[in-house]
Amino acid sequence: MIDLIVKNANIFTVSDIYKRAKIGPEAQDLSFIKRGAIVVKDGIILDIGPQDEILKRYEGEEIKEVLDVEGRAILPGFVDPHTHAIFVGTREKEFKMRLEGRSYLEILNAGGGILSTTQRVRDASLEDLVDALKERIDIFYEWGTTTFEAKSGYGLSYDAEIKQLKAAKVVNEEGYGEIVPTFLGAHAIPVEYKEDKEAYINIVINEMIPYIAENNLARFIDVFCEVGVYTPDETYRILDAGIKHGLRAKIHADEIEAIGCTELAAKLDVVSCDHLLKITPSGISALKKGNTIAVLLPGTAFSLREERAPARKIIDEGVPIAISTDCNPGSSYTESMPFIITLSVLEMGLLPEEAITAATLNAAYAIGMGNKIGSLDKGKQADFIVLKEDSYLFIPYHYGVNPIFATYKKGKRVKSVATTIN
Ligand code: NIG
Ligand code: FE
Repeated sequence: MIDLIVKNANIFTVSDIYKRAKIGPEAQDLSFIKRGAIVVKDGIILDIGPQDEILKRYEGEEIKEVLDVEGRAILPGFVDPHTHAIFVGTREKEFKMRLEGRSYLEILNAGGGILSTTQRVRDASLEDLVDALKERIDIFYEWGTTTFEAKSGYGLSYDAEIKQLKAAKVVNEEGYGEIVPTFLGAHAIPVEYKEDKEAYINIVINEMIPYIAENNLARFIDVFCEVGVYTPDETYRILDAGIKHGLRAKIHADEIEAIGCTELAAKLDVVSCDHLLKITPSGISALKKGNTIAVLLPGTAFSLREERAPARKIIDEGVPIAISTDCNPGSSYTESMPFIITLSVLEMGLLPEEAITAATLNAAYAIGMGNKIGSLDKGKQADFIVLKEDSYLFIPYHYGVNPIFATYKKGKRVKSVATTIN
């Protein structure tokens, strides 16, 4: 029995032909199927292709639902590969302070920023975090994101870091959303350890990492490698410890200053280096050597009013690019991948097609999910979005408004503009 056939669609599959993130000109081909159809069974894409062929092939089969999308565009659901979405409380007052000229690091060093969200998260119960996360998932679905990565890093203590990661686990187990969890215990230096960072690093390495790895609470480990936060040496030690426990590495690198963090990409098996506003030529070669994906977050540069990451240079050197919201209450408070696509195109110089690839297939590879999501290929999850219009060009072009007509997660509609479409 077939659950769903979606027909009469302009499908852009972003085809996973290389079984890896797309590099250079590869990212410009979105693999278009005109008047296409998708066949869904048990949450998986059973078949996809031109509608006439597909309908003939499944003639006589029992089909639960047939959906005619009347020529609208269909794309893979967006994959957001870098978020700090497990939080409660917002920081609009700091936003105002930044508008008045205070810098992001100044606010952090004065005990605000990440540290103020840390206080809110420590005070919250597991249920509070789960509820906040579910509300945020509804917004992600609303804007077309079907899977996202989410980091801890607002707990900064054994109990609170684990509480954050458990919130993601609860949501995954309930099937409310699909979150890829990352342990970011080294996101800031907790106030209690301001004078003894080494003691905190030891807790991260000797207590948090072993527990988190053993209990499958994270797939990745990340460090905020930055002036006044963690040095490249400390970052190396923390990531190395995580890798030895079976986690895969990511780095917040070259966001505010280039201090040699991206260069670690080639030394450790780093899956992605993220931010890269200040990346240098040696950083770019390290990414290339390390087979590392560059995750660019133009919403953060936009919100902090910083220069943009040199996306074209990175692409021209043959490093694959993914894009992300960085969704967090400080430096980039948005769940909207469509807005990030607009910024990527208008402010980082990506072609619209490159931006779509970066927001789907390459983003999936950046979180180790390329074999399951990120493109509309047979055997992958039926995570897709139906746009209001017939072309993906409307995403960057008609900016600031929601281009999503319907969002499907594992073949189930999780957002729809109209309750009945056919
Ligand atoms: O990716 N750079 C560090 N972490 C986040 C910001 C988190 C926050 O400000 O709450 C980022 O920009
Ligand atoms: Fe971040």
